[in-house]
Amino acid sequence: MLTRCFAVLYLVLALSVLPGGFAAKDTRVADRTIERTVQLRTHSIFPPYIDQDLQNRWWDFGADAYINTNKHIRLTRPKPSQMGWLWSRLPLTATNFVIEVEFKVTGESTHLYGDGLAVWLTKTRAEPGPVFGSIDKFEGLGVFLDTYANGRHPYGFPRIVGMVGNGSATYDQDHDGEANSLGACSANFRRTNVITKLKLTYVKDSYVDVKIHYRAWDDWSDCFRIEGVSLPASPFLGISAMTGEVHDAHDVISVTTWSAILSSEDAPRDKLTGGGLFSKKRGSEGSGSWLGFFFKLFLFGGVCVGAFYGYKTYVVRGRHGGFGSSGFGGLGDRMGYNSGKRF
Ligand SMILES: *[C@@H]1O[C@H](CO)[C@@H](O)[C@H](O)[C@H]1NC(C)=O
Repeated sequence: MLTRCFAVLYLVLALSVLPGGFAAKDTRVADRTIERTVQLRTHSIFPPYIDQDLQNRWWDFGADAYINTNKHIRLTRPKPSQMGWLWSRLPLTATNFVIEVEFKVTGESTHLYGDGLAVWLTKTRAEPGPVFGSIDKFEGLGVFLDTYANGRHPYGFPRIVGMVGNGSATYDQDHDGEANSLGACSANFRRTNVITKLKLTYVKDSYVDVKIHYRAWDDWSDCFRIEGVSLPASPFLGISAMTGEVHDAHDVISVTTWSAILSSEDAPRDKLTGGGLFSKKRGSEGSGSWLGFFFKLFLFGGVCVGAFYGYKTYVVRGRHGGFGSSGFGGLGDRMGYNSGKRF
């Protein structure tokens, strides 16, 4: 009986070394995960977009952009030679963040349309230019939602391309950013029946991850992930769009930004330690958790002793009452500790 009790004890201890919860949906960052997010009012915008003074405290828009308070911020109308922008007034100071942009690209034509829009995280803000309505030679991240192919490519359009500019590199306009692309995917986000959203996650000095929602409700497709990337500290968040000879309506429905808090570095929750029970000794566990560990051990010992005496009583009663004792072995067997003999 006591042997079995210790076998169970070992199992319990081995399990206690496993993670507290199986956080399978977490984003992994080496051995750190995004533990929780906090929404940032300063970098989020929703209908009706403006306050009673017909302004927005945190955002600025310009060029051809205009606001329809119950629908969208229309960056470009479906007309040639339009450009428009929406920029945060404040830099984004969060270390790690998640940004979700709900947008809409629509137009009459099924074969001639363009040019597209861009989501920016750059050192400067609100400077109109030729790259989807914003300046070239930018410093920071540009994610281009490109609906019109200037060059010939083996892949389809619309296309989403990620570029990190250093302030002097020029956007490869003739080849739709191919020379600058650090990651890309093709996704038909134009004229969909489903809400179209782009989700960008940045973990400082670690990665930029871009996902896109366009196929079905709650169906996020991985677009690209740039590893080992460092963006400028405290960038401005912007969205701009442009039309040329071909056109489309480029709308922003909403922007939501969250600051992302990672799990602490020395207590990775999702790390499976291979050695089981004794691997904890080599870890950087504080004395606090060792105290807890011995407390649990002590409690379990008590339970074992109690169970032992309970069992003895049961056997004695069983003999007198005529019951067999073989049924008691069930627990151990189910756990795979079948010693081949019954008590
Ligand atoms: C910026 O990037 C371009 C293109 O990759 C490169 O030619 C240039 O040397 C870089 N400039 C700086 C200042 O790093």
